[in-house]
Amino acid sequence: MMVCVGAGPGDLGLLTQRGTELVRAADVVAGFDAVVNLVRPLIRPDARVVTMGYRDQVQKLDEVAGAHRGGARCVVVFMGDIHFSGFQFLERVERACGQPVETVPGISSAQVLASRGRVCFDETTFVTFHRRGDLQPFKRHLVRALEDDRNAIVIPRPWDFMPKDVCAYLLARGVSGDLPVEVWENLTSREAQWSGTLAGCARDFSDMSIMLIRTLRPVPSQIEPAG
Ligand SMILES: C[S@@+](CC[C@H](N)C(=O)[O-])C[C@H]1O[C@@H](n2cnc3c(N)ncnc32)[C@H](O)[C@@H]1O
Repeated sequence: MMVCVGAGPGDLGLLTQRGTELVRAADVVAGFDAVVNLVRPLIRPDARVVTMGYRDQVQKLDEVAGAHRGGARCVVVFMGDIHFSGFQFLERVERACGQPVETVPGISSAQVLASRGRVCFDETTFVTFHRRGDLQPFKRHLVRALEDDRNAIVIPRPWDFMPKDVCAYLLARGVSGDLPVEVWENLTSREAQWSGTLAGCARDFSDMSIMLIRTLRPVPSQIEPAG
């Protein structure tokens, strides 16, 4: 068994029941240090724990794939949800295994932000810059989304495209500096929130931050019924 599990946004209470059962039953639990530490209370004392960082992930995933081929029940835990800014890691897991693996969704930081900010995903575009490679297509996509009067939930990239860089880029592309911006850090654990405008977002934030850029157009749910 090799299953990739979304571990949720940080509060263990927001890990799904299915994810909890899989971690509890696993012979091997693997993932980035911070995510493994989140689920550690659920890991059996006799289970093998494989933690990794950006530099050694390929080698560590090879170890996990080896255990999987040997018959071990392996779970790789992902931050938040696998399907929000997690596919590059999923591709590395599948490359190590040489086959597609099962995925179990989790609650994403993007969903928690939508809840805190009371925005609806139907009217919101999700863009992540937390990826390797060329950011240009994603930058263009963000500009177009805002030009189309959609809200945007944005994951910045530590440390070269952080919230202030995202805002500076958008201003340079002619997006209104009056757009309301919120930056939330450590959602569901040690939460902190900053609110301001695109033009006023000049401070530094931690790598555990996510942004909401709001459209100025009133969304249907905010429009008062006539009469
Ligand atoms: C590679 S992305 C993975 C996102 C994850 N798959 C998700 O669904 O939330 C990692 C980035 O997501 C953002 N992030 C994840 N969890 C967060 C949280 N609890 N609070 C704020 N930002 C978070 C941070 O910007 C972090 O550097």
